[in-house]
Amino acid sequence: METSGKVIKCRAAVAWVPRKPLSIEEVEVAPPKAHEVRVKILTTGICRTDDHALEGIMGGIEFPVILGHEAAGIVESVGEGVTDLKPGDKVIPLCIPQCRKCSSCLHPKTNCCFKTHLKEPQNLMPDKTSRFTCKGTQVHHFLWTSTFSEYTVVPDDAIVKIDADVPLDKACLFGCGFSTGYGAAINTAKVEPGSTCAVFGLGGVGLSVVIGCKAAGATRIIGIDINKDKFEKAKQCGATECISPQDYDRPIQEVLIGMTGGEGVAYSFECIGNTDVMKAALEACHIGYGTSVIIGGAPTGAEISFSPMLLFTGRTWKGSIFGGWKSKDCVPKLVSDYMAKKFNLEGLVTHTLPFDKINEGFELLHSGKSIRCILMF
Ligand code: APR
Ligand code: ZN
Repeated sequence: METSGKVIKCRAAVAWVPRKPLSIEEVEVAPPKAHEVRVKILTTGICRTDDHALEGIMGGIEFPVILGHEAAGIVESVGEGVTDLKPGDKVIPLCIPQCRKCSSCLHPKTNCCFKTHLKEPQNLMPDKTSRFTCKGTQVHHFLWTSTFSEYTVVPDDAIVKIDADVPLDKACLFGCGFSTGYGAAINTAKVEPGSTCAVFGLGGVGLSVVIGCKAAGATRIIGIDINKDKFEKAKQCGATECISPQDYDRPIQEVLIGMTGGEGVAYSFECIGNTDVMKAALEACHIGYGTSVIIGGAPTGAEISFSPMLLFTGRTWKGSIFGGWKSKDCVPKLVSDYMAKKFNLEGLVTHTLPFDKINEGFELLHSGKSIRCILMF
C-alpha cells in the first residue's frame, strides 16, 4: 500500500484533559514498529470504560490520550516479525491481549495475560514510545487500542483477524461489551440449563450477559436496573422479567430471594461497577451453590466489607475480565458463532453516528438513552 512505511495524517478524537469533551483533531500516526500493526478503524463503539477513563476514575491513564477500545477495522500495514496478519485483513483490536507465552496464557484456567493493563501500563506502546502526535505533542495510547482514531497502531498480541463477512457495525461489539458479558455467563459462571439468573445493570454488558444466560438454557432471567427504559431491550435479549430497585421499600436482594420462593438465584451478575450492588448480588445467591460474578469495574481503590458467612455457607464469588475468553484464540470463534446465528446482537446497537459526533455519543451514554452507540468513520 502506498501509505506503508509513512506517517499517516488522519482524524482522531483527542482527550487533552479529563472531564472535558473530546476534540476532533488532525493527528500523525507513525508506521508500525516490529510486532506492531497499523489499522484503519472503520467502526468503534463507545463503552462505559472509555467514559471511566475520561472521568479520571480509571488508573493508568495519561493525558493527552486517544481513548476507544471496542472496534473493527482493516490492516493497513504491518511491522517486522508480524506473521499472522497482512494488509487488507479484517481485524478486531483486543483490549485484553494474549501473548501465548506468559504463565497465564499457558494456563488453561485464565485469560489474564501478563501483558494486560492490569499488569503493565498500556498508555504507550510496549517500547514505551507513542505512535501518535498532535500539534507537535505526544499523545498517549489507551489499552493499546486507541480506536477513536481513523488509524491506530496495535501490538500484534492485541489484534486478531476475523471473518471478512461479518457486518462492521456488529463486529466492533466483539472487542469488548458483547464478549465480556456473554463470556461471563458461558465461561465464568458456566450457567446451566434450567437455572435462574439475576443480571444487575442492563447496559451493553448486562444485556450480553442476558444473551449468554439464554444461550446456556437458563429458564428464568431476572433483569434489574434503576432505568426502566432498559427493560424492553432486556426482554428482547431474553430476560423473562425485569424489576427496578426503586419500586421496593426493601433491599433488592430480599426482593430476589422472595421472587425465588425464599431460595435465591443460582447465578447473579454485577454489570455496573457499584460495590453495594456487588454485595447485594452475592447476597441474592442460593445458599450452598449460588455463584455471583463481578463484571463491572469498580473505581480504583474501592473496597467491600461483607459477611464471610455468605461464602462459608457455600456461595461462590468470582470476577470476569473480557468474559474469560483467551482473546486471540476465542474472538474469531465468537464471530463465527454469530455468523452461524448462535446468538442475536440486534438489541445491543441503539444508535449509529458519524465519528465526528463522538461527543453526542458520550451524551447518549450519560443520559442513559443508548445501549451501544456505534461511530462510523
Ligand atoms: N442498580 C441497578 N442498576 C443500575 C444501578 C443500580 N444501583 N446503577 C446503575 N445501573 C444501571 C444503569 O441504569 C445502566 O443501565 O446499570 C447500567 C450500566 O450500563 P452502562 O452504563 O451502559 O455500562 P456498560 O457499558 O454495560 O458497562 C457496565 O461493565 O465493563 C464494565 O466498566 C464497565 O463498569 C462498567 C460495566
Ligand atoms: Zn500472556
